[in-house]
Amino acid sequence: MPINGTIKLSGDKSISHRAILLSSIISGESRLKNISNSDDIKSTINCLVKCGIKISYIDNSLLVTGNTFRNPKNSLDCGNSGTSARLLIGLLSGLGIKAKIVGDKSLTKRPMRRIIEPLTLMGASIDGGTHLPLSLNTENPLLPINYSMPISSAQVKSCILFASLNTTGETKIKDLYHSRNHTEIMLKECGCEIVFDEDIVIKNPSKKLSPIFMDIPGDSSSAAFMIILAAMMPDSKLYLKDILCNQSRIKYIDLINSMGGDIKIKNKRMVFGEIVGDILVKYKPLRAINIKREIIPQIIDEIPILCLLATQAKGETIFNGIDELRYKESNRVEAIKINLKNMGANISLNKDKIKINGPNILHNTNIKTYSDHRIAMTFTIAGLLSGKFNHIDDESCIDTSFPDFYNVLKEISL
Ligand code: S3P
Repeated sequence: MPINGTIKLSGDKSISHRAILLSSIISGESRLKNISNSDDIKSTINCLVKCGIKISYIDNSLLVTGNTFRNPKNSLDCGNSGTSARLLIGLLSGLGIKAKIVGDKSLTKRPMRRIIEPLTLMGASIDGGTHLPLSLNTENPLLPINYSMPISSAQVKSCILFASLNTTGETKIKDLYHSRNHTEIMLKECGCEIVFDEDIVIKNPSKKLSPIFMDIPGDSSSAAFMIILAAMMPDSKLYLKDILCNQSRIKYIDLINSMGGDIKIKNKRMVFGEIVGDILVKYKPLRAINIKREIIPQIIDEIPILCLLATQAKGETIFNGIDELRYKESNRVEAIKINLKNMGANISLNKDKIKINGPNILHNTNIKTYSDHRIAMTFTIAGLLSGKFNHIDDESCIDTSFPDFYNVLKEISL
């Protein structure tokens, strides 16, 4: 069944989190158009409202009036959202806000030592161990930090950057493999003295920042599901308008093109420091590639759907250095392996590598999502490839990032 049509998507989730959180600490009113309609963004908004921040919707824009924080009376519930939890903990620690941070079953299992360690070095006081629930009890202003991240993580980097905004002195972060850089870009656009060519350095963190006026581009990770579906289905032609094309987010497009794919980015333009473009995808037969560990942080959210793509490419595709994938909304390495195997794919795990030898004929089956949105979407699409439908054990988890998923799918696959 060919995929055809022109689509637009709700705002990028990573940028939406950052825009709302940053607006909350900037005096004055920020206006954010096309904010992500995902459940994760609702979690960030609800937490900030409990901390005294005024947030309202007017004409498709979110209005955030910043700098009115107070200690929340009740726990702050980040739901399923690792980005909400990690960025919020950095931001609130920097402000000296006392709060208890909680999350759902999945988020409670995710590692928080990675942010507790640098924040504690900055002088934060965080009680409760290495996982949520955590209590923030910081009394004194934080200190700047010079920190080399043991893992390449945009959430850790952004947590530290937000925490540093109330310090006096230079904060420097080393991110070996260059995870997504939206926080750095947004801070610069707001007037912050930050450089981020190699290391990330905030020079004068207490400088007053100006409010954000941004039309948020379509989510590049949601786009990946539709782009990859079109890249796998013969005779497809799909056009996606106003999509975030930041290089640290669309690395998957370079990979697909190097597999023989045909994806073009048109009408490139800048929106609040970010590259935005329209994307044209056409089907072409694909061949396998060897994906180096250095680029894993830049395709981290697309690996499940890229693994499905690899089942349709000729030869052995190898994903190197995929350990971080075990600590996402589910253990994605296991979820991918079990479900792809059940569909008949030739997939094996070897230490921190995933190997897929294609092309494989897939047949429909029962899918275990582990309530992970990206697993549910990947295997809904895998079902279409089989020519039938998979039975997905939890479809509701898709609202975590892409509530319009089924509607968009219907629109382009009719
Ligand atoms: C995100 C960063 C990524 C990604 C997550 C969103 C962000 O995690 O997996 O879905 O918005 O900062 P890490 O870079 O922390 O691995």
